[in-house]
Amino acid sequence: MNYKVLRYENIEDKHVFLRADLNSNVQEEKPVLNKRIREHAKTIKYLHERDCKLVVLAHQGRKGQDDFISLKQHARLISKLVGTEIMFCDWNSDYLEEIDSMKNREILLLENTRFQKEETKTKKPIEHARHSYVEKLAQRADIFVQDALSVCHRSHASVVGFCTVPSFIGPVLECELKALEEVDKNDGRKVLVLGGAKPEDSISLAKSMMEHGRADDVLLGGVPGEMALASKNIIKGKTIEFLKKKGLSEVGKDAKEIMEKFHQSVFIPQDIAFEEAGKRMETDVEHTPETALAKDIGEKTVEEFSRKINRAGLVVFNGPVGVFEEKNFSLGTKKLLGVISKSKAFSLLGGGDTETALTKLGFKEKDFSHISLSGKALLKYLASEELPGLEVLK
Ligand code: 3PG
Repeated sequence: MNYKVLRYENIEDKHVFLRADLNSNVQEEKPVLNKRIREHAKTIKYLHERDCKLVVLAHQGRKGQDDFISLKQHARLISKLVGTEIMFCDWNSDYLEEIDSMKNREILLLENTRFQKEETKTKKPIEHARHSYVEKLAQRADIFVQDALSVCHRSHASVVGFCTVPSFIGPVLECELKALEEVDKNDGRKVLVLGGAKPEDSISLAKSMMEHGRADDVLLGGVPGEMALASKNIIKGKTIEFLKKKGLSEVGKDAKEIMEKFHQSVFIPQDIAFEEAGKRMETDVEHTPETALAKDIGEKTVEEFSRKINRAGLVVFNGPVGVFEEKNFSLGTKKLLGVISKSKAFSLLGGGDTETALTKLGFKEKDFSHISLSGKALLKYLASEELPGLEVLK
């Protein structure tokens, strides 16, 4: 690994600045506890127990959206998880003084980094280091720890602006990177299962992973699968209306292109499931009734995809292959995840909906090799794009 690992460093008495990712869904102005918050809380506890003065930086939401809230409630939540008080400072307080007067084993969470207007300006690391609020923070930092792959695709001030400070990767990021190394190290067949509701991300990921030799077989389900079927004029009717809203004209073109270029590697559904009179019905894709809206892959497709998964050395699963929230249409996702969990392949799971699907369908974390905490950053990493937040740590 090209990074300095925090585990080996003595941090006693030092001011440690940790970039964590506490971004989560928000309900009634409060963050909803998720795996991401739990994992970063473990890092906070681990650092706290090593006698440093810990300053935590994180963001919540995006400006203009409902989830763009203060981190005050996050501090309360993390206090409970860590079992010790977490101090909190907003950007109007004397937060620099507060940092200067910290004692060993104290933890301070600073306000939402995105409340600072310079935070989200995409700039080079050294520009952020010299011309943003991070400059004064960095002067107080003995060590910077990046613990969140999930923010490393952003060239934001709190992600890249500590470039002048000795920098390390934290345990959560270390675990993510170890799992990702497997994508290149694994010498078995590499299978990519793509679903979810964002076909543009999935199709471009499939393209770059095949171009970089990171995927031998690509199995398309969910909206990306329907997009591929529509682009070949195989599926018609109601599903097309739905896909138009998802960018059929553009994304469909890309889907068609990868199917032509990599025709031996890309597999699309042979059958789909739809709803009729409240029941699950299945049909071969060529015979889909005009009125049917595709909601899952059918059993023949499940069988074909399962065979490919069973031959794999590595399986990357990104996004459910059907509307798993509805009992009648969770079959495809449940069966494929079941096959992945029992296969000998290294399994890497990602995508926002995937975590929800795992919980809803009764899977456990230990059923898989690694469940990533990252969304867009994971996609970019798998697509072989450089992540500024990682580059700056090298
Ligand atoms: C995420 O939720 O994927 C990360 O926290 C990054 O959030 P962003 O997409 O708003 O930058």
